Formats: sequence, structure tokens, C-alpha cells
Amino acid sequence: MITRPTSEEIASWLRETDEERLSELFEHADAIRRERVGDTVHLRGLIEISNRCSRDCHYCGIRRSNTSVQRYLMSVSEIVECAVTAEKEFGYGTVVLQAGEGPGVDSERVTRIVEGIAEKTSLAIALSLGERKRSELLRWKNAGADRYLLRIETTNAELFRRIHPADTPHARDRMAVLADLRELGYEVGSGVLIGLPGQTYDDLANDLDTFARIDLDMIGCGPFIPSPGSPLADASEREKLRIAMGCREADQVPATNLMTYKVVALARLVCPDSNIPTTTAVATLGGKEGRETGLQRGGNVLMPNLTPEEYRRLYVIYPNKASSLDSPEATHRGVVEMLEAMGRPAGFSRGDSRKFLAREGA
Ligand code: 5AD
Repeated sequence: MITRPTSEEIASWLRETDEERLSELFEHADAIRRERVGDTVHLRGLIEISNRCSRDCHYCGIRRSNTSVQRYLMSVSEIVECAVTAEKEFGYGTVVLQAGEGPGVDSERVTRIVEGIAEKTSLAIALSLGERKRSELLRWKNAGADRYLLRIETTNAELFRRIHPADTPHARDRMAVLADLRELGYEVGSGVLIGLPGQTYDDLANDLDTFARIDLDMIGCGPFIPSPGSPLADASEREKLRIAMGCREADQVPATNLMTYKVVALARLVCPDSNIPTTTAVATLGGKEGRETGLQRGGNVLMPNLTPEEYRRLYVIYPNKASSLDSPEATHRGVVEMLEAMGRPAGFSRGDSRKFLAREGA
């Protein structure tokens, strides 16, 4: 029987290769998931509202220096329309609005979007709009936003600094943003990339410790996928970063789904009441099976992409992104059929995190 793992145990699980031992970990995470958050897989309709971005993150396909990207900004009414469809046609209880930190995705516009959705639907509204000022986060909360997702990407401060040029005036420390979100009463989600060049097993163990320490409501992690149009697309650049970080080859975390499943399982053990999605990056590397596997190893959330086709094909943070060519209807249907086949009920309610509800005394 595996109990809640210590930091040392986490580090050793991350290096575990024995299949039998790993099945034990995965089965345990699945049992804890069932016991703590049940069988329901909560569905969140994802709307990628703009791919404009003023940041230049070294891993990301929609970074500002990638001039080959055709940029878009959905109109307020288009976004509200998508949210209404998510609720009325597909029956969702939550939408997630995601964008780059782009011009146009400003305080005023997001406020109007949130107000529009709050007025026309009873959806829970989650935002994933990057490093924002406390005053903006407050304004959006007051307008009706419920949740916020901002990955810390890695807890290794030097690695973070090397891949995130802080060359825009609004750059903010992500831990400080998460603390603000928490104080403002948001349900707070974060997570990391798995297998960034120079990321060690100890770094990843530290990431997991941090999830527990900052008491996250939601934890979303996915493998790093080299993205054309970004510096880390280039194998020699990845190698340079690993060496500059002083990371030995033997300590480098692989950017695989297996490693991501280990993180999902361990996240379930250290944060048993949190909502944990199988992310699009996992589905990208592993297809339908990848998505299913994440849900059998600790995950309890999926975020089907409901962005209109004309826009989703332009939101290319990394290549071959799962469902990037499907329609919202097809994406939704695919997910529902998959869950039916797995015998897991699809969650159409708000699906608030148990942790958050306990904190709010609900
Ligand atoms: N591979 C995998 N995930 C990526 N993200 C950005 N670029 C990549 C990539 N190349 C993730 C980041 C970000 C989220 C919205 O997408 O973790 O927080």
C-alpha cells in the first residue's frame, strides 16, 4: 500500500522504470481519485479567444517573434455566442477562456466578455490569460469570473528565467499572481511543463511539493512538445539549454506521456481533492488512448476544445495539437463517446474543486 509520498519518495517514483511498481502507483492514484472526487469526468469547454501575444516564451508557437502566425482576436459577441452554445447545445457547466497576453485582450474587453457570459448563462467562468495585474484580476472577478489558470511552468527559477524573457512592462512573478488570485477568491489552477530541456527529476519533485504547499484547486500538466517557430524547436538549442542549466543527461526529465502520467498520479496523491485534467498535450502525443490513460491514473477533468474551426487552426502553441482541425460538435461528441466507452460519467455541472468548496465553507 502506498501512503502519501514524501519528497524523497516522489523523486524516486519519478525515476521508477519497473512496470509492475508503476502499475501499483497508477492503480493507487486511480483508487484515491475515485474515493476523493468520484468517477465523474468534469467537462470544461475551452475557447481560445485570441492568439495575439506580446511575450516571447522560448517554447511557445504563438510567441510574438513567430511572424508566420496569422493573428486573430475573437469579437466579444462571438465569444459569448460560443459560451452560450457550450451551455445550451452541449450542456457544459464551465467554460475556459484562453489567450496569449496580446494586445486587444485587455481589461475592458475581458470584462465585457465575462459580463456577457454571466448575463446569458449560468456557466462557471475560468480565465487563462497569463500574467495579469491584481487590479485586472479583481475587476474580472467582480464581473463574474470564477476561476483562473496560470501555469508556473517550472519551479526552477533559473530555468524559468532562461525561457521567459521578462521584456514586457506587464511581466509579473507567477507565484505572486497565484497568491493574488487566491486572495481575491478565485478557484486557482496551475501546473508545469514536463521535460523542459534542463529540467531535472529533482526540479519536478519540487514542482509536486509546491502544488501541495500552495494548495492548488486545479493542476494541469503536459509534456513539452517542440514547436516550430520557437527557439526550442531546434535540438541543438535544447541541448545548449540543458548544458547551460548544468543538467546531466541522466538527470534530464523526458518529455513523454509516461512521465506526465507519473506526475498526474503523484499530483493526485499529494493533492487528493484537486481537479486534475488530462491535457491537450497528452492527447496530442498519445491520441484518444493518451487521454483515457490520464483519466485512469488520477485525472478527473477534460477540456474539450470548442473554439470555432477558423480560429482553432491558428492557435498553434505546438504542432499537431489534438482536435485542432475538428469542429466543436465533433470534439464534443468524441469526448462523450470516449467517456461512455470507459464507463465514466461525463460531468455537466460546474464541477467546482472540493478543496475550493471546503475553503469557501460551501
Ligand atoms: N509544448 C507543450 N505545452 C506548451 N505550452 C506552451 N507551449 C508548449 C509546448 N511547446 C503550454 C504552457 C502554457 C499552456 C497554455 O500551454 O504550459 O502555460
